[in-house]
Amino acid sequence: MASSSSSSGRWVRRVLFVFILVEVWFLFNIGCVDSANDIAAKKLKVGNISKVEDAVNFHIYYGQTFKVIKNAIDGKSYLLIQNDSRMASRTKYCTSRIKSYVIPLSNYSANTELFPGLLGSLKGITADSVTSQCVLKLYQSGEIKLINKSEPQQLAQFGAHFVTDTDQAQAACNFASFVPFAEDTPLQRAEWIKFLGAFANLETTANDFYNAVKENYLCLAKVAASKKSFKPTVAWIVYYDGVWSFTKETFKLKFTEDAGGENVDKSINKMTYNISNPDDLEEFHAILCTLDVLIDETFTSDPAAYSLSTFLQNINVEDHSCLAFLSNKSLWRYDKRIYNSTLDWFDGAVSQPQLVLADLIEALFPTGNYTTTHFRNLAKEEVVISIGPDMCDRDNSTAMQPTIVACG
Ligand SMILES: *[C@@H]1O[C@H](CO)[C@@H](O)[C@H](O)[C@H]1NC(C)=O
Ligand SMILES: *[C@@H]1O[C@H](CO)[C@@H](O)[C@H](O)[C@H]1NC(C)=O
Ligand SMILES: *[C@@H]1O[C@H](CO)[C@@H](O)[C@H](O)[C@H]1NC(C)=O
Ligand SMILES: *[C@@H]1O[C@H](CO)[C@@H](O)[C@H](O)[C@H]1NC(C)=O
Ligand SMILES: *[C@@H]1O[C@H](CO)[C@@H](O)[C@H](O)[C@H]1NC(C)=O
Ligand SMILES: *[C@@H]1O[C@H](CO)[C@@H](O)[C@H](O)[C@H]1NC(C)=O
Ligand SMILES: *[C@@H]1O[C@H](CO)[C@@H](O)[C@H](O)[C@H]1NC(C)=O
Ligand SMILES: *[C@@H]1O[C@H](CO)[C@@H](O)[C@H](O)[C@H]1NC(C)=O
Ligand SMILES: *[C@@H]1O[C@H](CO)[C@@H](O)[C@H](O)[C@H]1NC(C)=O
Repeated sequence: MASSSSSSGRWVRRVLFVFILVEVWFLFNIGCVDSANDIAAKKLKVGNISKVEDAVNFHIYYGQTFKVIKNAIDGKSYLLIQNDSRMASRTKYCTSRIKSYVIPLSNYSANTELFPGLLGSLKGITADSVTSQCVLKLYQSGEIKLINKSEPQQLAQFGAHFVTDTDQAQAACNFASFVPFAEDTPLQRAEWIKFLGAFANLETTANDFYNAVKENYLCLAKVAASKKSFKPTVAWIVYYDGVWSFTKETFKLKFTEDAGGENVDKSINKMTYNISNPDDLEEFHAILCTLDVLIDETFTSDPAAYSLSTFLQNINVEDHSCLAFLSNKSLWRYDKRIYNSTLDWFDGAVSQPQLVLADLIEALFPTGNYTTTHFRNLAKEEVVISIGPDMCDRDNSTAMQPTIVACG
């Protein structure tokens, strides 16, 4: 179809038609539109199609020579045009609703402050605060360049520039919002690998990766749910500017539940506790006494220096006798793997939540047999591990593989 001589006008119309269909599907969720997509999809090999099962903030639709990603976060449709189609050279969109990209991307760049994983042809990063050892290795060898994100023409040279912060996404035609962080569950976040896969024609790789992660995650969750013992009470807390507060982030609460734990009560996690206020401090102390496992999320520019004594200083509680998470040695931080001061928690932990879940299960039901990946136990004075380019254990042509945890 793409090669017929008078097809270009038709293609554009056809594409607009598909957009309308997609639009309609979103507005009314009409079944017949779904089947129109199915017909297009059936002509493609199944392996080349990613179906979004869990994530809620993006959808992918397939045509013969193009794909459409609806991104609910920025409200845009991304038209991905196969590079060998006529449409690729003739069609370019950059409107408030539609942007187009020619795929597979021969190069792309990313805002690496928060960027999970390496897929396809990453060529530019905006900071070397990235925790993928293999990205670091490519950066060191000069294959990936550091680009200055304040220089628009530097960003414009790539087929796409992925940003994790949606405010920036409006800025340029090649920007695309990559926002796993907006999802509510660990698996939903991980499924965004399919978003990247679509830009690289690496659907098969992305599907295999996600399926393996999901299967492992669900297996671990099932084992945790079958534990006969009591459910330990877990709190994720953060100290900032003299005040402690409990997390409300849904994906973290979900991690706790899936690991077989109980989150602190909602009436508690609404509150904040100012340690300079004696009434707050008293109440905070009382709550701490009810916890079995504590996860201290406090930000620091120097994770290696954050120790048990830093925590004790921050809680400002004199009497530790009731603190079960201390006597039972279950006080954790998710900054075990760092590169300089960047946490792999924001990178590898997003694409591989099964590793986080396995860590939490070990934290809640210790065997002493499992070495955690992202969590370190402050109560046991465990220290951070610095990761770096020398720890990349594959060459750049090998597809990324998830790390599967023994289960069941
Ligand atoms: C589709 O997937 C098959 C393997 O499943 C692969 O060999 C082929 O190159 C893919 N095609 C495209 C256009 O990505
Ligand atoms: C399309 O992309 C593939 C993979 O990067 C490349 O091998 C091929 O030469 C490109 N084709 C065109 C027409 O640009
Ligand atoms: C990280 O550390 C390396 C050397 O250990 C240094 O070259 C690099 O500039 C540091 N990066 C950041 C963002 O601090
Ligand atoms: C990045 O670009 C901005 C604006 O041009 C400039 O002020 C800044 O010094 C550049 N940063 C680096 C590290 O080159
Ligand atoms: C990225 O790929 C495009 C299209 O193939 C090319 O025009 C551009 O020069 C490339 N940019 C870089 C920085 O390699
Ligand atoms: C905490 O309480 C102290 C003493 O009442 C007060 O000075 C400070 O501003 C409070 N901090 C915050 C962040 O509200
Ligand atoms: C300490 O942990 C064990 C299981 O590891 C549990 O049986 C015990 O109740 C815990 N103690 C306290 C004080 O929470
Ligand atoms: C630790 O692992 C070994 C070998 O896998 C197993 O035999 C043992 O039962 C495990 N211990 C605990 C406490 O789970
Ligand atoms: C990565 O790929 C490039 C070609 O794309 C090659 O020149 C380079 O040697 C490869 N690096 C490694 C570590 O395999």
